[in-house]
Amino acid sequence: MVRAETGPLSAHAGAAEAAAAAAGAPVKRAYVQRMFSDIAPRYDLLNRLLSLGIDRSWRRAAVHALGWTRKPTGRYLDLCAGTLDVSAQLASEPGFAGRVVAADFAEPMLRSGRGKGPAGRIEPVVADALALPLASRSCDGALVAFGIRNVAGLGEGLREVARVLAPGARFVILEFSTPSVPLVRAGYLFYFRHILPLIGGLISGHPTAYKYLPESVAHFPEREALAERMRLAGFTNVTWRALTFGIAALHVGEKE
Ligand SMILES: C[S@@+](CC[C@H](N)C(=O)[O-])C[C@H]1O[C@@H](n2cnc3c(N)ncnc32)[C@H](O)[C@@H]1O
Repeated sequence: MVRAETGPLSAHAGAAEAAAAAAGAPVKRAYVQRMFSDIAPRYDLLNRLLSLGIDRSWRRAAVHALGWTRKPTGRYLDLCAGTLDVSAQLASEPGFAGRVVAADFAEPMLRSGRGKGPAGRIEPVVADALALPLASRSCDGALVAFGIRNVAGLGEGLREVARVLAPGARFVILEFSTPSVPLVRAGYLFYFRHILPLIGGLISGHPTAYKYLPESVAHFPEREALAERMRLAGFTNVTWRALTFGIAALHVGEKE
């Protein structure tokens, strides 16, 4: 349920909390878990609307980059799975005969995604990305779409994924990024910082969720810096490519 804001003071406090969370303050974990639980019923609609549907092709690209065809019967982790779009995309791939563990700590997000994908292939698990209830080396690949930026503790989150992956298994990160071409960058930042929070706020009814989004992207490492963080966490052969003028980026690494 979306919490009611009662006046300018509480609105100010809410904005300050969102800004602190976006900057990685200790409040981040609680803010993120509560905020996604609040917006869960409108999350899919807003995704389609605010990205003009491009997010679907980004998720398809992420699933393709996972290279699951190397082991179609394997066990794959969809980290920060939200409403299960990536899990469903992977589980619905022709020839996929494995399992997808869909982990997220906001239970209402997982519940909103119920029924997506073929029956029996997706296993939603309410779990924190920093303490996954999975044995070491038990997964044949992992993806995280628009999630790792929200995890309070990037290095810990990356190391936890490395822990659960089998050696040689791929890890794919799909995340927002900022276009480098100046004109595209300026137009995009205007949309991201001014239009998106307005539409997102109106439709979700949440006072800060769509202000937190651009702020959290601004605090997240740039593309090459993220690749370096992946290497530091135990991934090798790390590569990345920009998607749609650099609005998003796809990073791929292999567990050493
Ligand atoms: C922007 S949504 C992305 C959902 C989905 N992957 C998608 O592509 O639409 C981010 C998700 O990350 C989850 N999340 C953030 N921090 C987490 C953590 N520490 N542990 C588990 N889930 C987390 C949130 O609950 C939320 O559902």
